[in-house]
Amino acid sequence: EWTMENFIDHEVEKIRENVGNRHVLCALSGGVDSSVTAMLVHRAIGDQLTCIFIDHGLLRKDEGTRVMEMFEGEFDINVMKIDASERFLAKLQGVSDPEQKRKIIGNQFIYMFEEESSKLENMDFLAQGTLYTDVIESGTATAETIKSHHNVGGLPEDMKLDLIEPLNTLFKDEVRALGTELGLPESFVWRQPFPGPGLGIRVLGEITPEKLEIVRESDAVLHDVLEKAGLDKDIWQFFTALPDMRSVGVMGDTRTYDYTVGVRAVTSTDGMTSDWARIPHEVLEAISTRIVNEVPQVNRVVYDITSKPPSTIEWE
Ligand code: XMP
Repeated sequence: EWTMENFIDHEVEKIRENVGNRHVLCALSGGVDSSVTAMLVHRAIGDQLTCIFIDHGLLRKDEGTRVMEMFEGEFDINVMKIDASERFLAKLQGVSDPEQKRKIIGNQFIYMFEEESSKLENMDFLAQGTLYTDVIESGTATAETIKSHHNVGGLPEDMKLDLIEPLNTLFKDEVRALGTELGLPESFVWRQPFPGPGLGIRVLGEITPEKLEIVRESDAVLHDVLEKAGLDKDIWQFFTALPDMRSVGVMGDTRTYDYTVGVRAVTSTDGMTSDWARIPHEVLEAISTRIVNEVPQVNRVVYDITSKPPSTIEWE
């Protein structure tokens, strides 16, 4: 019989058997998937797990601090935080193609894990929060590649670590249930899904520190408005994206030529399909007003009213 408890027992047993007295690295990204992976592996092998949290400079506002407080502070899991913003941004400079961006970010992650793991003794495995959705959308012999999700695609051939992917048969809602069962607080379990390449695929086209700041700040404002409106739990995923365009506006008596922020908010059960959320007009108005007022260099806000398919949830 398939129950969450049985799933945990089975996976814990499998991980213990597989790992023995060796050591596992975990790619902690701040998202629900890698968090649940870390909790599960920690349950199985405790201190034989070391998490590496790479701050690639593409995180949401305050995310780095929150992750560290949670895993090191509350759960007493070994976490090494590495500030790699400059390295990622340098690699991404001048790159505007979405797939290339995803591949660079993904590869950079893997290289950094290899680099860090080589400094530690006995690291033999890499645990990742790959979901069933990631597996089927990243292209197999039978499925065409839609987007190369970084935690599946682009692994270097000489990678020395074996992969542990305990979530790769699960959908998002099942991962949340698993997280709750493992003792992750609700506030964390019900966090927004967040793609591995982070804000890097929400700044459309070339990534600059300035554009990252706009998408990070506007996202935080959006979050605040929806939370205050009591809608943050009903909407499956919401975020802002920054198109590679500016347009004309007027502020006071002055002509402006500034960025447009795109707001994406969707309902879904597993991310495979989605519909745009019917946010009340007055809440949309608050989103627009606050983003324009609070985020410098933005003079226009648009709401994305496409479902998936034909769109995808992320804009890149
Ligand atoms: P799309 O844009 O493909 O997104 O409709 C479906 C869901 O997957 C998330 N997503 C990712 N998750 N690594 C991840 O772990 C990725 O590279 C990635 N790309 C998209 C997206 O946020 C949505 O929830």
